[in-house]
Amino acid sequence: MKKLVVLSGAGMSAESGIKTFRDMGGLWEQYNVTEVASPEAWARDPTLVLKFYNERRKQLFEAKPNAGHIGLAELENHFEVHIITQNVDDLHERAGSTRVIHLHGELKKARSTADANLIYELPHWELKEGDLCEKGSQLRPHIVWFGEPVTAIDAAAELVQQADIFVVIGTSLSVYPAAGLLQFVSSGVPVYVIDPGVPAFIPAANIQVIKEKASAGIKQLTAQLIEDKSDKN
Ligand code: OAD
Repeated sequence: MKKLVVLSGAGMSAESGIKTFRDMGGLWEQYNVTEVASPEAWARDPTLVLKFYNERRKQLFEAKPNAGHIGLAELENHFEVHIITQNVDDLHERAGSTRVIHLHGELKKARSTADANLIYELPHWELKEGDLCEKGSQLRPHIVWFGEPVTAIDAAAELVQQADIFVVIGTSLSVYPAAGLLQFVSSGVPVYVIDPGVPAFIPAANIQVIKEKASAGIKQLTAQLIEDKSDKN
């Protein structure tokens, strides 16, 4: 099977009712990113940081995968699909996708502030001050904050290099190193971009833009890829 690699961002989950960051009315219009999503913020005001992620988590427990997530999971019937997501939600997994890399962490997990290897699944939305790891240290959201290393980036770059088809969905490509993954696409590999408001700068050749929301765009892409496949058979 051909390897189809997807890079997804907040737009992927917009139709599930989860806000994007940089669109009009997006999260970074409501919050100052350095006050809620950085190690300095955690040191200065952990209550505010926990509140911010608790709100996001509460919303996630109520959200459902949309037709786009489900469409990508169904593409596994035709391709070896790998999803590299900047999203911290678990909607790709809940839709049935089996190979998902989270570049920026996972909202439903917490980790120890004393030992980064101690990671826990959260049974409900609320993470509080006083919630401790087994070594007795405070738990923090299992999120990659600004200024922290993106440990999954090397594995992601390797996947992108091996892609036969590369698909970018719902990301403004404004945060690095995730945005830099496009540079790893091998020459001649078709790149599809699904986004209703297409990012200004996409540094790759062979690009086809599908100016649609994720659900409609993935439906269109699937039809096209399956048609291309049967033409070649
Ligand atoms: P952005 O909010 O920067 O970009 C969202 C993209 O989704 C834009 O290009 C929109 O046009 C597009 N979009 C909106 N609605 C859509 C829909 N229904 N279907 C498809 N696309 C849609 O979000 P990201 O690029 O994901 O990091 O942001 C990257 C990172 O910045 C996030 O992971 C987060 C944030 O700060 C951290 O918190 C570490």
